[in-house]
Amino acid sequence: MKVFINKIIPEIGFKLLEEAGIQYTVWKEKPILDRGQAIQFCKGHDAFLSVGQAGLDADFFKECKHLKVVALHSVGFDGVDIKAATANGIPIGNTPNVLNKATAETALLLMLTVARKALFLHNKIKKGQWGVSQPTQDLGFDLAGKTLGIVGLGRIGTELAKICTRSWGMKILYHNRSANAQAEKEFGAKLVSMDELLTSSDVVSVHTALTSETKGMFGMEQFKKMKSSAIFINTARGGVHKEDELIEALKKQVIWGAGLDVTNPEPMSKFLTANSIASSKDNSLLEMDNAVVFPHIGSATKETRDKMSTCAVENIIAGLNGDPLPYPVNPEVQQGR
Ligand code: DGY
Repeated sequence: MKVFINKIIPEIGFKLLEEAGIQYTVWKEKPILDRGQAIQFCKGHDAFLSVGQAGLDADFFKECKHLKVVALHSVGFDGVDIKAATANGIPIGNTPNVLNKATAETALLLMLTVARKALFLHNKIKKGQWGVSQPTQDLGFDLAGKTLGIVGLGRIGTELAKICTRSWGMKILYHNRSANAQAEKEFGAKLVSMDELLTSSDVVSVHTALTSETKGMFGMEQFKKMKSSAIFINTARGGVHKEDELIEALKKQVIWGAGLDVTNPEPMSKFLTANSIASSKDNSLLEMDNAVVFPHIGSATKETRDKMSTCAVENIIAGLNGDPLPYPVNPEVQQGR
Protein backbone atom coordinates (compact mmCIF):
# COMPACT_ATOMS: atom_id res chain seq x y z
CA MET A 1 0.00 0.00 0.00
CA LYS A 2 1.39 3.38 -1.01
CA VAL A 3 0.37 6.89 -0.08
CA PHE A 4 1.16 10.07 -1.97
CA ILE A 5 1.85 13.19 0.14
CA ASN A 6 1.96 16.52 -1.69
CA LYS A 7 3.99 18.53 0.87
CA ILE A 8 6.42 17.89 3.72
CA ILE A 9 4.44 17.00 6.84
CA PRO A 10 5.83 16.81 10.43
CA GLU A 11 8.18 13.93 11.12
CA ILE A 12 5.69 12.16 13.39
CA GLY A 13 3.45 11.54 10.39
CA PHE A 14 6.22 9.75 8.46
CA LYS A 15 7.14 7.76 11.57
CA LEU A 16 3.56 6.53 12.01
CA LEU A 17 3.37 5.52 8.35
CA GLU A 18 6.64 3.60 8.63
CA GLU A 19 5.48 1.85 11.79
CA ALA A 20 2.32 0.80 9.94
CA GLY A 21 4.44 -0.54 7.05
CA ILE A 22 2.97 1.94 4.56
CA GLN A 23 5.20 3.23 1.78
CA TYR A 24 5.01 6.85 0.79
CA THR A 25 6.11 9.32 -1.86
CA VAL A 26 6.48 12.95 -0.79
CA TRP A 27 6.61 15.94 -3.12
CA LYS A 28 9.32 18.07 -1.52
CA GLU A 29 9.93 20.57 -4.29
CA LYS A 30 8.92 24.15 -4.79
CA PRO A 31 6.88 25.10 -6.75
CA ILE A 32 3.97 23.10 -5.50
CA LEU A 33 2.34 20.52 -7.73
CA ASP A 34 -0.37 21.53 -10.12
CA ARG A 35 -3.59 19.54 -10.31
CA GLY A 36 -2.55 17.47 -13.33
CA GLN A 37 0.70 16.41 -11.68
CA ALA A 38 -1.13 15.56 -8.44
CA ILE A 39 -3.52 13.33 -10.41
CA GLN A 40 -0.60 11.54 -12.08
CA PHE A 41 1.03 10.85 -8.71
CA CYS A 42 -2.27 9.70 -7.19
CA LYS A 43 -2.76 7.25 -10.07
CA GLY A 44 0.34 5.39 -8.89
CA HIS A 45 -0.74 5.30 -5.23
CA ASP A 46 -3.56 3.87 -3.10
CA ALA A 47 -4.14 6.88 -0.87
CA PHE A 48 -3.57 10.65 -0.94
CA LEU A 49 -2.56 12.74 2.06
CA SER A 50 -3.38 16.23 0.86
CA VAL A 51 -1.94 19.35 2.43
CA GLY A 52 -4.26 22.05 1.08
CA GLN A 53 -7.42 21.36 -0.84
CA ALA A 54 -6.64 22.81 -4.27
CA GLY A 55 -7.99 20.84 -7.20
CA LEU A 56 -9.96 18.22 -5.26
CA ASP A 57 -12.94 18.68 -7.56
CA ALA A 58 -15.32 16.33 -9.37
CA ASP A 59 -12.81 15.64 -12.17
CA PHE A 60 -10.11 14.76 -9.68
CA PHE A 61 -12.33 12.17 -7.99
CA LYS A 62 -13.44 10.78 -11.34
CA GLU A 63 -9.82 10.38 -12.44
CA CYS A 64 -8.74 8.95 -9.08
CA LYS A 65 -11.66 6.78 -8.10
CA HIS A 66 -9.21 3.99 -7.22
CA LEU A 67 -8.08 5.91 -4.10
CA LYS A 68 -9.00 4.10 -0.90
CA VAL A 69 -8.86 7.30 1.14
CA VAL A 70 -8.03 11.01 0.88
CA ALA A 71 -6.79 12.43 4.18
CA LEU A 72 -6.74 16.22 4.45
CA HIS A 73 -4.08 17.90 6.58
CA SER A 74 -6.69 20.44 7.72
CA VAL A 75 -10.00 20.66 9.51
CA GLY A 76 -11.57 22.72 6.71
CA PHE A 77 -12.83 20.96 3.61
CA ASP A 78 -14.52 23.85 1.79
CA GLY A 79 -12.22 23.33 -1.21
CA VAL A 80 -13.14 19.66 -1.64
CA ASP A 81 -16.08 18.40 -3.69
CA ILE A 82 -17.35 16.06 -0.96
CA LYS A 83 -20.40 15.04 -2.99
CA ALA A 84 -18.15 13.89 -5.84
CA ALA A 85 -15.86 12.01 -3.45
CA THR A 86 -18.88 10.27 -1.92
CA ALA A 87 -20.33 9.47 -5.35
CA ASN A 88 -17.03 7.78 -6.22
CA GLY A 89 -16.95 5.90 -2.90
CA ILE A 90 -13.88 7.70 -1.58
CA PRO A 91 -13.75 8.40 2.16
CA ILE A 92 -12.42 11.85 3.09
CA GLY A 93 -10.84 12.51 6.48
CA ASN A 94 -9.92 15.76 8.22
CA THR A 95 -8.25 16.89 11.47
CA PRO A 96 -10.95 18.26 13.79
CA ASN A 97 -10.48 19.58 17.35
CA VAL A 98 -6.68 19.53 17.47
CA LEU A 99 -6.31 23.10 16.19
CA ASN A 100 -9.02 24.85 18.21
CA LYS A 101 -6.71 26.43 20.76
CA ALA A 102 -4.00 27.45 18.28
CA THR A 103 -6.55 29.14 16.00
CA ALA A 104 -8.25 30.88 18.94
CA GLU A 105 -4.80 32.14 20.01
CA THR A 106 -4.28 33.50 16.51
CA ALA A 107 -7.58 35.41 16.67
CA LEU A 108 -6.55 36.80 20.06
CA LEU A 109 -3.14 37.78 18.72
CA LEU A 110 -4.81 39.67 15.87
CA MET A 111 -7.25 41.36 18.26
CA LEU A 112 -4.43 42.57 20.50
CA THR A 113 -2.17 43.57 17.61
CA VAL A 114 -4.86 45.68 15.99
CA ALA A 115 -6.32 47.12 19.21
CA ARG A 116 -2.86 48.27 20.37
CA LYS A 117 -1.61 49.30 16.89
CA ALA A 118 1.32 47.00 17.59
CA LEU A 119 2.45 46.34 14.04
CA PHE A 120 2.10 49.98 13.03
CA LEU A 121 4.22 51.06 16.02
CA HIS A 122 6.81 48.35 15.40
CA ASN A 123 7.13 49.55 11.81
CA LYS A 124 7.41 53.14 13.02
CA ILE A 125 10.45 52.21 15.12
CA LYS A 126 11.97 50.38 12.17
CA LYS A 127 11.57 53.50 10.04
CA GLY A 128 13.48 55.51 12.69
CA GLN A 129 10.34 57.39 13.78
CA TRP A 130 10.26 56.60 17.51
CA GLY A 131 10.76 60.31 18.32
CA VAL A 132 9.21 62.01 21.33
CA SER A 133 5.94 60.40 22.20
CA GLN A 134 3.05 62.50 23.52
CA PRO A 135 0.58 60.98 26.03
CA THR A 136 -2.18 61.37 23.48
CA GLN A 137 -0.31 59.83 20.61
CA ASP A 138 -0.92 56.51 18.83
CA LEU A 139 -3.39 55.25 21.40
CA GLY A 140 -5.03 51.87 21.15
CA PHE A 141 -7.97 50.65 23.17
CA ASP A 142 -8.55 48.21 26.02
CA LEU A 143 -10.09 44.86 25.23
CA ALA A 144 -10.95 44.35 28.91
CA GLY A 145 -14.64 44.74 29.58
CA LYS A 146 -15.51 45.21 25.89
CA THR A 147 -17.97 43.20 23.81
CA LEU A 148 -16.78 40.44 21.51
CA GLY A 149 -19.20 39.36 18.78
CA ILE A 150 -18.50 35.83 17.53
CA VAL A 151 -19.97 34.75 14.21
CA GLY A 152 -20.05 30.94 14.38
CA LEU A 153 -19.67 29.92 18.01
CA GLY A 154 -18.36 26.41 17.38
CA ARG A 155 -15.22 24.76 18.69
CA ILE A 156 -12.73 27.51 17.82
CA GLY A 157 -15.07 30.39 18.69
CA THR A 158 -15.73 28.76 22.05
CA GLU A 159 -11.99 28.59 22.84
CA LEU A 160 -11.68 32.30 22.03
CA ALA A 161 -14.73 33.15 24.13
CA LYS A 162 -13.28 31.25 27.09
CA ILE A 163 -10.00 33.21 27.00
CA CYS A 164 -11.72 36.55 26.51
CA THR A 165 -14.30 36.13 29.26
CA ARG A 166 -12.01 34.52 31.83
CA SER A 167 -8.98 36.74 31.35
CA TRP A 168 -10.43 40.03 30.13
CA GLY A 169 -14.01 39.99 31.39
CA MET A 170 -15.27 40.56 27.86
CA LYS A 171 -18.96 40.09 27.13
CA ILE A 172 -19.82 37.58 24.42
CA LEU A 173 -22.52 38.01 21.79
CA TYR A 174 -22.81 35.30 19.18
CA HIS A 175 -24.66 34.58 15.98
CA ASN A 176 -25.28 30.94 15.04
CA ARG A 177 -27.90 28.92 13.26
CA SER A 178 -28.65 27.22 16.57
CA ALA A 179 -28.18 28.17 20.22
CA ASN A 180 -25.06 27.03 22.08
CA ALA A 181 -26.54 26.21 25.49
CA GLN A 182 -23.17 25.21 26.96
CA ALA A 183 -21.59 28.58 26.08
CA GLU A 184 -24.59 30.46 27.42
CA LYS A 185 -24.32 28.62 30.73
CA GLU A 186 -20.53 28.58 31.00
CA PHE A 187 -19.67 32.17 30.09
CA GLY A 188 -22.93 34.01 29.61
CA ALA A 189 -22.76 34.15 25.82
CA LYS A 190 -25.87 35.72 24.31
CA LEU A 191 -27.40 34.60 21.01
CA VAL A 192 -28.35 37.68 18.96
CA SER A 193 -29.34 38.60 15.42
CA MET A 194 -26.54 39.45 13.02
CA ASP A 195 -27.59 43.11 13.10
CA GLU A 196 -27.41 43.28 16.88
CA LEU A 197 -24.03 41.57 16.87
CA LEU A 198 -22.68 44.06 14.32
CA THR A 199 -24.03 47.18 15.99
CA SER A 200 -23.14 46.19 19.58
CA SER A 201 -19.68 44.57 19.32
CA ASP A 202 -16.29 46.22 19.80
CA VAL A 203 -14.62 43.27 18.10
CA VAL A 204 -16.33 41.03 15.53
CA SER A 205 -14.55 37.70 15.04
CA VAL A 206 -15.49 35.24 12.31
CA HIS A 207 -15.30 31.49 13.01
CA THR A 208 -17.70 30.05 10.50
CA ALA A 209 -16.96 27.53 7.76
CA LEU A 210 -17.00 28.79 4.16
CA THR A 211 -20.26 27.63 2.58
CA SER A 212 -22.61 29.01 -0.05
CA GLU A 213 -24.44 30.71 2.85
CA THR A 214 -21.40 32.37 4.42
CA LYS A 215 -19.55 33.29 1.20
CA GLY A 216 -19.15 37.07 1.06
CA MET A 217 -21.26 37.55 4.20
CA PHE A 218 -19.10 40.51 5.28
CA GLY A 219 -19.20 43.44 2.89
CA MET A 220 -19.66 47.21 3.10
CA GLU A 221 -23.28 46.79 4.23
CA GLN A 222 -22.13 44.86 7.30
CA PHE A 223 -19.08 47.05 7.98
CA LYS A 224 -21.34 50.12 7.96
CA LYS A 225 -23.47 48.55 10.69
CA MET A 226 -20.40 48.03 12.90
CA LYS A 227 -19.20 50.71 15.32
CA SER A 228 -16.65 53.01 13.71
CA SER A 229 -14.42 52.11 16.68
CA ALA A 230 -14.73 48.36 16.08
CA ILE A 231 -12.30 45.74 14.78
CA PHE A 232 -13.05 42.97 12.26
CA ILE A 233 -11.13 39.69 12.74
CA ASN A 234 -11.18 36.76 10.32
CA THR A 235 -9.28 33.55 11.05
CA ALA A 236 -11.81 31.33 9.25
CA ARG A 237 -11.74 31.67 5.46
CA GLY A 238 -10.99 34.66 3.21
CA GLY A 239 -14.08 33.96 1.15
CA VAL A 240 -16.31 34.99 4.07
CA HIS A 241 -15.41 38.66 3.58
CA LYS A 242 -15.42 40.75 0.41
CA GLU A 243 -11.84 41.93 0.38
CA ASP A 244 -12.27 44.98 -1.86
CA GLU A 245 -15.12 46.22 0.35
CA LEU A 246 -13.08 45.59 3.49
CA ILE A 247 -10.22 47.62 2.03
CA GLU A 248 -12.63 50.46 1.25
CA ALA A 249 -14.17 50.29 4.74
CA LEU A 250 -10.70 50.55 6.29
CA LYS A 251 -9.58 53.37 3.99
CA LYS A 252 -12.72 55.38 4.75
CA GLN A 253 -12.49 54.51 8.46
CA VAL A 254 -15.95 52.97 8.41
CA ILE A 255 -14.40 50.56 10.94
CA TRP A 256 -11.33 51.09 13.13
CA GLY A 257 -9.23 48.16 12.03
CA ALA A 258 -9.00 44.60 10.78
CA GLY A 259 -6.93 41.53 11.56
CA LEU A 260 -6.86 38.75 9.00
CA ASP A 261 -5.27 35.33 9.10
CA VAL A 262 -7.07 34.48 5.88
CA THR A 263 -7.34 36.41 2.64
CA ASN A 264 -9.03 35.98 -0.68
CA PRO A 265 -7.14 34.67 -2.60
CA GLU A 266 -4.28 33.03 -0.73
CA PRO A 267 -1.48 33.91 -1.13
CA MET A 268 -2.65 37.54 -1.51
CA SER A 269 -2.05 38.46 -5.11
CA LYS A 270 -3.66 39.60 -8.31
CA PHE A 271 -1.26 37.42 -10.22
CA LEU A 272 -1.65 33.93 -8.85
CA THR A 273 -0.89 31.17 -11.29
CA ALA A 274 -1.43 27.47 -10.77
CA ASN A 275 2.24 26.78 -10.35
CA SER A 276 3.67 29.77 -8.57
CA ILE A 277 3.67 31.31 -5.15
CA ALA A 278 3.30 34.87 -6.35
CA SER A 279 4.33 38.03 -4.58
CA SER A 280 1.95 39.38 -1.98
CA LYS A 281 3.13 42.96 -2.28
CA ASP A 282 0.31 44.16 -4.51
CA ASN A 283 -2.45 44.36 -1.93
CA SER A 284 -3.26 47.63 -0.25
CA LEU A 285 -4.16 45.87 3.01
CA LEU A 286 -0.42 45.56 3.50
CA GLU A 287 0.08 49.31 3.19
CA MET A 288 -2.53 50.24 5.79
CA ASP A 289 -1.76 51.24 9.38
CA ASN A 290 -5.03 49.80 10.67
CA ALA A 291 -4.80 46.34 9.08
CA VAL A 292 -2.75 43.33 10.13
CA VAL A 293 -2.42 40.28 7.89
CA PHE A 294 -0.95 36.88 8.70
CA PRO A 295 -0.29 34.20 6.06
CA HIS A 296 -2.88 31.66 7.33
CA ILE A 297 -0.98 30.59 10.45
CA GLY A 298 -3.99 29.58 12.57
CA SER A 299 -2.71 26.05 13.14
CA ALA A 300 0.98 26.83 12.73
CA THR A 301 2.44 25.66 16.03
CA LYS A 302 4.73 22.68 16.42
CA GLU A 303 2.33 20.93 18.80
CA THR A 304 -0.74 21.50 16.65
CA ARG A 305 0.87 20.55 13.34
CA ASP A 306 2.17 17.33 14.98
CA LYS A 307 -1.38 16.49 16.06
CA MET A 308 -2.78 17.32 12.63
CA SER A 309 -0.23 15.03 11.02
CA THR A 310 -1.12 12.26 13.45
CA CYS A 311 -4.86 12.60 12.67
CA ALA A 312 -4.18 12.61 8.92
CA VAL A 313 -2.04 9.48 9.10
CA GLU A 314 -4.58 7.74 11.34
CA ASN A 315 -7.16 8.44 8.63
CA ILE A 316 -4.80 7.02 5.98
CA ILE A 317 -4.13 3.84 7.95
CA ALA A 318 -7.82 3.23 8.62
CA GLY A 319 -8.77 3.94 5.00
CA LEU A 320 -6.12 1.59 3.62
CA ASN A 321 -7.32 -1.14 5.99
CA GLY A 322 -10.91 -0.60 4.84
CA ASP A 323 -11.86 0.52 8.37
CA PRO A 324 -14.03 3.53 9.22
CA LEU A 325 -11.91 6.69 9.40
CA PRO A 326 -11.43 8.04 12.93
CA TYR A 327 -12.07 11.59 11.66
CA PRO A 328 -14.46 11.22 8.73
CA VAL A 329 -15.97 14.02 6.66
CA ASN A 330 -18.29 11.74 4.66
CA PRO A 331 -18.93 8.78 7.02
CA GLU A 332 -21.71 7.53 4.75
CA VAL A 333 -19.03 6.18 2.38
CA GLN A 334 -17.52 3.96 5.04
CA GLN A 335 -20.83 2.49 6.06
CA GLY A 336 -21.17 1.14 2.54
CA ARG A 337 -17.63 -0.33 2.30
C1 DGY B 1 -7.67 24.23 8.56
O1 DGY B 1 -7.23 23.23 9.13
O2 DGY B 1 -8.71 24.24 7.91
C2 DGY B 1 -6.85 25.45 8.68
O3 DGY B 1 -7.45 26.55 8.15
C3 DGY B 1 -5.53 25.20 8.01
O4 DGY B 1 -4.49 25.67 8.79
